Amino acid sequence: MIAVTQRRFGDPGVLTAVSTERPEPGLGEILVRVHAAGVNPVDWRTRADGGLGTLGRPPFVLGWDVAGTVEATGPGVTLFEPGDRVMGMPRFPHEAGAYAEFVTGPARHFVHAPERLSSAEAAALPLAGLTAWQALTDTAVPRVGQHVLIHGAAGGVGHLAVQIAAARGAKVTATARTAHHEQLRAMGADEVIDYADTELAAAVAQVDTVIDTVGGACTTRSLDILRPGGTLVTLPGPPCEAVSRRARQTGKRLLFMLVEPDRTGLLALTDLVDRGQLTPAVAAAFPLAAAAQAHLLAEAGGQFGKTVLEIPQP
Ligand SMILES: NC(=O)c1ccc[n+]([C@@H]2O[C@H](COP(=O)([O-])OP(=O)(O)OC[C@H]3O[C@@H](n4cnc5c(N)ncnc54)[C@H](OP(=O)(O)O)[C@@H]3O)[C@@H](O)[C@H]2O)c1
Repeated sequence: MIAVTQRRFGDPGVLTAVSTERPEPGLGEILVRVHAAGVNPVDWRTRADGGLGTLGRPPFVLGWDVAGTVEATGPGVTLFEPGDRVMGMPRFPHEAGAYAEFVTGPARHFVHAPERLSSAEAAALPLAGLTAWQALTDTAVPRVGQHVLIHGAAGGVGHLAVQIAAARGAKVTATARTAHHEQLRAMGADEVIDYADTELAAAVAQVDTVIDTVGGACTTRSLDILRPGGTLVTLPGPPCEAVSRRARQTGKRLLFMLVEPDRTGLLALTDLVDRGQLTPAVAAAFPLAAAAQAHLLAEAGGQFGKTVLEIPQP
């Protein structure tokens, strides 16, 4: 099979398509013929300098988001049969190797892909969607009518978080550049703020929950408008001790969350898709062998939604 690998850390030019052995599904695993693979910031950080560090040193195959069809099932698998359309985020944060024509993973790291989504859309959903879902339903848990502030709302996680929070009855304020405001309103945002032009504290009254996909100064500023007892979930990385202390001293919950493979969460996302309440936006699709261009575009920012790699099927 063809897979995109790298021999060293570095810029997108290190990504190279090679011919390699097709994996075999082990006990409780499925072999998936990949139709599309999502591109996430963790991919380009891992490519550049190891990111979370869970893949070790190159060579490795990047990628976690997968949409495709089941090619074969390993011993003990009862959930799927060959030919089923599936999506998932197998093995995260350990190596899944989604930038390839075939991938294996534990069966329960996948679900049947929603019928109304294309393969590209289904590949855009698992990692970013599970992050938004786990942040909003396990970690912060805003109640109906409460006010949720979502930073980076035009991004992969943000645009899904807006739709999930709106579907669960929250009042949603989103930050994004002005060009993306109309799309965010259509997805359920009640208020949209341009992060470049607007002073957050002047624009937003106290909120109950913050989903912070930006980090750094954005986390600190957001703490100031979070009500005591409210929760700020930050996603780029653990906050520094000074910011954590400030949260504790003001009676606010500040939590770093790392997304986990989660079949129940994937089923919940599928349900929202089926109800027409959640649609992943695909900003751009590239062939697998053009993974380097996909990384260049995604890292540059400015898009609405997600970048994916596609493998045309005969
Ligand atoms: N902890 C976890 O489990 C987990 C899971 C998924 C993602 N993440 C992390 O969460 C972050 C976001 O991921 P993603 O997939 O959503 O990335 P993404 O698709 O690149 O989106 C990031 C968004 O943030 C916006 N942005 C940049 N600076 C901003 C600011 N100062 N205020 C408001 N918005 C701003 C960008 O807008 P423009 O491009 O228009 O400037 C972009 O829309 C990344 O750091 C990623 O590594 C963590």
